[in-house]
Amino acid sequence: MSKFLIHGGRKLFGELQISAAKNAYLPILAACVLCDGKVELHNYPYYSDTESMCKILSKLGAKLQISDGVLCVDGSSIFSHSIESELASLVRSSIFMLGALLGRFKKAKVAYPGGCEIGARPIDIHLESFRKLGVEVSERHGYIHCDASKMHSGRVVLEFPSVGATESLMMASVLSKGETKILNAAKEPEIVDLQNFLNKMGAKVSGAGSDEVKIEGVKTLNSCSFTPIKDRIIAGTYIIATAMCGGDVTLCGVKPEHLASLIDKLDKTACLIEAKGDKIRVQASGRPLSLGKIETSVYPGLPTDLQAQILALQTISEGSSIICENVFESRFKHVPELIKMGANVAIKDRVAFVRGVPKLYGAAVTGLELRGTAALVLAGLVAEGYTTVSGARHIDRGYHKIEDELSSLGADIQRVED
Ligand code: UD1
Repeated sequence: MSKFLIHGGRKLFGELQISAAKNAYLPILAACVLCDGKVELHNYPYYSDTESMCKILSKLGAKLQISDGVLCVDGSSIFSHSIESELASLVRSSIFMLGALLGRFKKAKVAYPGGCEIGARPIDIHLESFRKLGVEVSERHGYIHCDASKMHSGRVVLEFPSVGATESLMMASVLSKGETKILNAAKEPEIVDLQNFLNKMGAKVSGAGSDEVKIEGVKTLNSCSFTPIKDRIIAGTYIIATAMCGGDVTLCGVKPEHLASLIDKLDKTACLIEAKGDKIRVQASGRPLSLGKIETSVYPGLPTDLQAQILALQTISEGSSIICENVFESRFKHVPELIKMGANVAIKDRVAFVRGVPKLYGAAVTGLELRGTAALVLAGLVAEGYTTVSGARHIDRGYHKIEDELSSLGADIQRVED
């Protein structure tokens, strides 16, 4: 068990290359199952979630090799269509395997997925969508069994634009006959990336990034080489860190338009942001101003994955703010810990009321899930004195050595073992 020891109060300066997007890599890793050949994925990021997906792929029979940041997945040896509970519970994205296995074997047996504790996170939309395309779905003894022998093309309207359900359906349909349309699809950039990857393998998918994705089934997919996009949430976390600590930081590799909702809110209130090409420069000095009323929503709205970090920023901003969490129902678990550091926050259902304080104070706090733990680290960076943040393993799910990246910008943070 490791935790972070942070001595707050340092400004951040420098340039950082952002790693590949966890939420792009995970469905792409699952989609490798669809290819009976070799796929090369560049900029492999060492997050524990991507490691877990690689373990699942190996268990299914794939041969994996990493060299110079390139992951080679040979799917020709995949023999199994089944994922046991021990593996499925490692990462929620194991649910993507359902769509991919259905595409390849026309049948799948996957135990219920794990993942962050941020709400109920049901998979009813995934399963209902499969049923609409003729897949027989049954749930028995902790496993989801799917039989796609009678699967057909068709038109599926999602009751909510779920990122995971959109991606699952894309994977399940690429190798089926005819044309399938997903309506009310999620529009996140990671879905566009999955479309680009599938098409690089020879699929015929179009419309990703809009609310209507069209999949024309093809017979087989071929080997390819692909570079997934960079992680907009990591970049957003460091933008917010700079706004909180002050300094001058340039983040490289991320498309600024993927973070437009955050940049629009923070620019000129919390910091000055200049975006050019794939670089985002953040300059901050003095106390940030509060953002007033903000709410999370599906893309292109403010991402729920940045809500915890934004809330941390609001705790030290001048003025009051109201934050509505519209995507997940249980995403304020870090708030009691922020209160231990001197924050003034009240929660009612899905709304946080924050009155900014001039200072946070170091404390021993514990993170319970990925983004909430990142928010506690940001609070520690700006707090007076020492903060320990337990639960480093949660951060490791989606950031590679966050302590090294922040230290390279001048923060005083180290990982210590319990
Ligand atoms: C993905 C991201 C996650 C992000 C989320 C929202 C990955 C690997 N993870 O998660 O980081 O926070 O999108 O941007 O890409 N829902 C249902 N039934 C379903 C599916 C979802 O009710 O079958 C609900 C969820 O409980 C949640 C909302 O829909 O309240 C959004 O979920 P969804 O978009 O599916 O998120 P994930 O794909 O799990």
